[in-house]
Amino acid sequence: MKILLLGSGGREHALAWKMAQSPKTEELYIAPGNAGTAQVGENVDMKADDFGSIRDFVIERGVDMVVVGPEDPLVKGICDFFKSDPRLSSVWLIGPSKDGAVLEGSKDFAKGFMQRHNIPTATYLTFNASTLNEGLDFLETVRPPYVLKADGLCAGKGVLILHDLDEAKAQLREMLTGKFGAASSKVVIEEFIRGVECSVFVLTDGKSYKILPEAKDYKRIGEGDKGPNTGGMGSISPVPFATEKWMHKVEDRIIRPTIDGLARDGIDYKGFIFFGLIDVNGNPKVIEYNVRMGDPETESVMLRLKSDLVDLLEGVATETLAERKVEIDPRSAACVMMVSGGYPGAYEKGFPIVGLNDTKDCIVFHAGTAEKDGHVVTNGGRVIAVSSYGADKAEALAGSYREVKKIYFQDKYYRRDIGADL
Ligand code: AMP
Ligand code: GLY
Repeated sequence: MKILLLGSGGREHALAWKMAQSPKTEELYIAPGNAGTAQVGENVDMKADDFGSIRDFVIERGVDMVVVGPEDPLVKGICDFFKSDPRLSSVWLIGPSKDGAVLEGSKDFAKGFMQRHNIPTATYLTFNASTLNEGLDFLETVRPPYVLKADGLCAGKGVLILHDLDEAKAQLREMLTGKFGAASSKVVIEEFIRGVECSVFVLTDGKSYKILPEAKDYKRIGEGDKGPNTGGMGSISPVPFATEKWMHKVEDRIIRPTIDGLARDGIDYKGFIFFGLIDVNGNPKVIEYNVRMGDPETESVMLRLKSDLVDLLEGVATETLAERKVEIDPRSAACVMMVSGGYPGAYEKGFPIVGLNDTKDCIVFHAGTAEKDGHVVTNGGRVIAVSSYGADKAEALAGSYREVKKIYFQDKYYRRDIGADL
């Protein structure tokens, strides 16, 4: 099979690493990819949302399957674009149509979906510029902290959690008057939920589903979960509190109602669903849906997926997922993310990365890297994800932390407390 994977981060390197191991993979292209994906496939210089160039490439190379890594192309309708072009309609595309991608692309839609299908989540109300005053009044009635969410995609910056009422009111006003452009023309205000987070992943062909290994990610830049939010600073899988009993609750109360809800709403969904959950005294609640895999969760999850990912994706595309098996490695996996100094604020790029070939007994996934004059250089905030197996969480973490020390680039930073809270 000829496969084109869209995206350029650590998630895409992990997906490419896994797909390259499949006997079903003949050619693997990654667009645009990074210096790491170039080691397991062929990078193609094309943006992940440049639909016209993607179409031309798919036709020219006879690509059989397109796997979409990030949410952007999905929210912009790449699935619908493929279906509407007779030259592409037989190409398998892994990712939901636009009306499914809106589960991630609109927080207001996602909340309405959960309410409609009785899926446990925080209570909420949505406001727009014409209901700003109602929103300000509403804030007076809720208990802090105040959770304000821009409706649309904001590259991970659209959720504000504020302790001060005046600050919350000021932010609501700013958001509804263009702080995040059109993405904050609607704002969801929701109940703050206290608890530990867990990311659960599912593959669905629209009829049946398979649950992949769960993971926990670490979003804040600072140790002890302090400081601003990032794309993710590390991940571990499995998650100790996600016991069999807890996962049954997740499946009964959240996963199955979501899959059934999509079908009932007439939404065509073939791809990954990422359930961002919070555990509240043993009961899972949804804080968000994503329509793709998580990053850096994928850099742990792919290590624990023993089954052939390409075979599973084939099951998704041909609606035969129910016939396939998901086998999970009982070992633990841990990922530690190395980031550029200054991230998630301003940072420099282009620093040479050394020591990549000195690592052993780990898998080095590239996130923001590029090749320049034969050298691997930093090319983003999140740079390198070091993933390891271990008999347990502690051993997996020890493996990643041992190897992280061998990789160097100027101003490198990583959290030393990944997994320490569990
Ligand atoms: P999101 O972009 O929806 O994942 O939100 C970003 C982060 O904000 C989440 O990972 C949570 O840590 C936090 N968060 C979002 N919604 C809530 C909520 N209702 N209660 C508590 N924390 C939340
Ligand atoms: N790790 C969280 C995300 O991918 O959105």
